Amino acid sequence: MSISLYFLIGFLVLVVIGIAAYLLSARKYQSSATVANSYDQWTVDGILEFYWGEHIHLGHYGSPPQQKDFLTAKSDFVHYMVKWGGIEKLPPGTTVLDVGCGIGGSSRILARDYGFAVTGITISPNQVKRAIELTPFGLNVQFAVDDAMALSFPDASFDVVWSIEAGPHMPDKAVFALELMRVLKPGGVLVLADWNQRDDRQKPLNFWEKPVMSQLLHQWSHPAFSSIEGFSELLVATELVEGEVITADWTQQTLPSWLDSIWQGVARPGGWLRFGVSGLIKSVREVPTLLLMRLAFGAGLCRFGMFRAVRANSRTELMDQNFTNQTPSSLVREPST
Ligand SMILES: C[S@@+](CC[C@H](N)C(=O)[O-])C[C@H]1O[C@@H](n2cnc3c(N)ncnc32)[C@H](O)[C@@H]1O
Repeated sequence: MSISLYFLIGFLVLVVIGIAAYLLSARKYQSSATVANSYDQWTVDGILEFYWGEHIHLGHYGSPPQQKDFLTAKSDFVHYMVKWGGIEKLPPGTTVLDVGCGIGGSSRILARDYGFAVTGITISPNQVKRAIELTPFGLNVQFAVDDAMALSFPDASFDVVWSIEAGPHMPDKAVFALELMRVLKPGGVLVLADWNQRDDRQKPLNFWEKPVMSQLLHQWSHPAFSSIEGFSELLVATELVEGEVITADWTQQTLPSWLDSIWQGVARPGGWLRFGVSGLIKSVREVPTLLLMRLAFGAGLCRFGMFRAVRANSRTELMDQNFTNQTPSSLVREPST
């Protein structure tokens, strides 16, 4: 047998193992504990960090997208988001809460390059441990385990609330929206980036989109995706937003990330040696989800949403402006300031 035939057989075996692992070991969302458990495992085995670096989020490849180093695109994303959110000129010492901070990639950039005083929270204890290990002494960043669905901070604690790609893990998006706005000081800014689905109130999911969406939810512990329109409405419904929620769609800017993620596995074979056969199987297991994500974002089923909202001075002030009718009673929670 020629060597290329061996390669072909090896490749096909890997594909079969990958698909089997994918189908047999879905990580369906059950509670925040299942999310914590998934991220704890991903952190301990080190595979995600080896390929994705310290940022567990998509990269920004420019507009129109250009070829770029995978890891550079990720750190670039943070700088584009700072600029888009209009927070780059805020003074040193500005307090920032990074909600769903992963292993702290964004938190460290915000502290190091912008002088902010950053608190990063995540549901995964192992991520907190790793984030602390990765943070140089003297950088103004701290990390803690906390649940974004019931943040332990008092109302009006931060100048900026920042969050990247944590929303799909939240079981109740209205509560998530309220928590984000609640901990902002009056005049403070929420800057959030998230995976969203198309607004299915306008165009329902069709015959192929439904099973694809179900895989995207069940493979990576996501209870649901909101739409860009739907989540902005939930932010407004908190009655804590001054003016309008500004949104943008960065699907095109971030789209190359999906195939680039798969390419990393080929281009950096050092990972095969480092993580062995079990690492290879774990990596190959993610390939179908990455391909489905690429399909979903490329075909308009999913959209990459950017959100910016300013915290109003008080809820009472907004109630005077007739915002009350839009607020479900389940959201009513008086801020202490
Ligand atoms: C896709 S990762 C993004 C991490 C980080 N923002 C980054 O960009 O590198 C999602 C993050 O959300 C966190 N997360 C999920 N559910 C959470 C919850 N209920 N409370 C706090 N963090 C949560 C996860 O632990 C993880 O750190």
